[in-house]
Amino acid sequence: MVKTILLLAATASSTLIPGPWSNIHDSPTDRANALLKNMTQAEKISMLHGPATGDCCSCTTSASCAYVGNINPIARLGIPPTNMNDGPQGFRDNVHPGTTTAWPSGLTMAATWDVAAMQEWGIGMGKEFYAKGANVQLGPGLCLARVPRNGRNFEYLSGEDPFLGHTLVQPVITGIQSQKVIANAKHYAFNNQETNRGSVSEEVDERTRFEMYYPPFAGAINAGVGSIMCSYNKINGIWSCENPVTLKHDLKNYSGFKGYVMSDWGATHSTSIAKGLDVEMPQAHFMNSENITAGLKSKSIQQSDIDDSVQRILYAMFSVGVMDEPLSAWDWKKQSTNSTTEASVASARKLSGLSTVLLKNENETLPLLKNSQLKIAVIGFGGANAVVHGGGSGSVVASYTVKPIDAITDRAGKFATVTYNNGTDMTAASALAQDSDVAIVFVGTLSHEGGDRASLSLDDGCDPNIDPHSKQCQGNNANQNAMIDTIAGINSNTIVVASVPGAILMPWSTNPNITAILTNFLGGQQAGNAIADVLFGDVNPSGKLPITMPNKENEMEMSTEQWPGLPDPTNPMYAMYSEQLLVGYRYYEAKQIPFTTGFPFGHGLSYTTFKYTNLKIKKGFPLYQVSFDLENTGKVAGSEVTQLYLGFPAIVNEPPIQLKGFTKVTLDQGGRKTVTIELTEREMSIWDVVDHRFKAASGVFTVSVGASSRDLRLKGTITM
Ligand code: GLC
Repeated sequence: MVKTILLLAATASSTLIPGPWSNIHDSPTDRANALLKNMTQAEKISMLHGPATGDCCSCTTSASCAYVGNINPIARLGIPPTNMNDGPQGFRDNVHPGTTTAWPSGLTMAATWDVAAMQEWGIGMGKEFYAKGANVQLGPGLCLARVPRNGRNFEYLSGEDPFLGHTLVQPVITGIQSQKVIANAKHYAFNNQETNRGSVSEEVDERTRFEMYYPPFAGAINAGVGSIMCSYNKINGIWSCENPVTLKHDLKNYSGFKGYVMSDWGATHSTSIAKGLDVEMPQAHFMNSENITAGLKSKSIQQSDIDDSVQRILYAMFSVGVMDEPLSAWDWKKQSTNSTTEASVASARKLSGLSTVLLKNENETLPLLKNSQLKIAVIGFGGANAVVHGGGSGSVVASYTVKPIDAITDRAGKFATVTYNNGTDMTAASALAQDSDVAIVFVGTLSHEGGDRASLSLDDGCDPNIDPHSKQCQGNNANQNAMIDTIAGINSNTIVVASVPGAILMPWSTNPNITAILTNFLGGQQAGNAIADVLFGDVNPSGKLPITMPNKENEMEMSTEQWPGLPDPTNPMYAMYSEQLLVGYRYYEAKQIPFTTGFPFGHGLSYTTFKYTNLKIKKGFPLYQVSFDLENTGKVAGSEVTQLYLGFPAIVNEPPIQLKGFTKVTLDQGGRKTVTIELTEREMSIWDVVDHRFKAASGVFTVSVGASSRDLRLKGTITM
């Protein structure tokens, strides 16, 4: 009797018709299998694609096409609709613009190196998707920043390191999915450029696949991600969304992924359900009843292929909790909800502060004193309108944007004078700089989906046409480097704030008159308040670079064959990943490239200082424990992201050092703590192409601990 009551109680709220799948205490696998058994073939196939005809995405006419991606409900069984929406930094709502929060972008959040911050970001975004009636967030983006000029690096939280991606993605997935919204790890895989993304074949060897590009997706799977998006490009000559090696062998068999694979929008090229694709988005050109039935007849498709795909979709819906919400939760009319809240905006501000990186700070120029008689010049377009996001499907129309000039004016206090000049009239801007105690120069550039950046220069890519919502690049964007030089030639206390979508060149960074440099990447709608929080010391910066800031263009000397590819680099058929493991700082370390105007991976200063002592390496759970003492030796409380890099035994031919551990430590002034970073066998393994698995290397490892890849304070060894 009790069980029945429980059963009824359990099903009272959800939309599912009561049945053997209704018990919320059963495993998602059991529930999915039970439900699958009760579905007709037509119902099964109807879940393998988007709307067959008419509008597909973000229509305003009916539930069947109301979101960016839609899978029909199965009313007979009470299976709710699947409502998918972009993007990786918040709900993109171009139908009701201004009703969601523009959070910091993926790469921006990577600069926090902060697991707790990543979870807060995931929860905050998930809440808004739920409020909008969406039960799939088409994010986070995980592609490695292999190509510094890739137009979508701003969306991706891995930066240039697989371990960083593997670690940071997990709290984001759990955060989003804690809100009953299925996360979507994208774009699987090797979508590391936008030049001819729709058909370029990325040529990647097995060891490189597993050591460099899969780990962020493995992290997402580890965290229980419900869906993965296969990418537009080809991989070793075969379309990503019909590639049995990468989808079936590497992903579903080896990596143990239990959720479902959806295609990128228009990335389906055949009825490839037998090759690993589960859902065609956004429509039904291939994965439709006619083609699948024909495939069954010709035996190119087995019934087990169909059942496995549907089971994966149901598994994701059960494991995240979508199935057990009331149907009203997924009512498409919720889209008009204003999902942004005081709490989400406050969180966006906090996260933008945590992701701000202090690159240079001479003579303690920062933090600026509040309520002093300071005469502050704020110069450049970014002062008037923070660079909120990049262009394309990952953009978000912010509910509102805080201007840095307003936040700085408010924070400086009534005794200070703050004057703004947008930098188009350099005579006026120079006069202002002449007459000010400090000049804060805001610069920035943009990038977008569908194209790679023309260069890493600040003076390229700032095109207001990229994103209709971003007007911030009008006027002076083409002369930002000259503007910096001019202002620094006049004011010996010049501070540069760069809001950028990834790597940029900073030819002026060694100018002694430029006493401080910060980057807040694409910090979202609260970047204005957050940069003021940092400039005036309300927030002590703790961000670290998730990518290398190069000294010059194409410093990794990528051949055209590597990127954008050949035979025609403007429309390449293939790109060779011949650099293999030497991406980003791995290349810089292998070639021992010194930093002059650029900054190394993992670099980021604080308003305080930290001392590392007393390295100890102990064998023990799990494999090794590396511990050291960290002391705050400065004047204010602060946080340090301590980093652990491993050097592998020379015989296995790995890059000189690789990030294999990090942890963020907060200490009061004078505080001291013993920090422990654990190394598991996986961290000490390489991909063995004979046995097709990770295997621990044997020999002598070097262990380095420090504040960046080029500021390693303690060294030791491990002999395996
Ligand atoms: C786009 C993007 C993908 C996005 C999807 C839906 O082309 O590649 O990231 O989620 O289509 O807009």
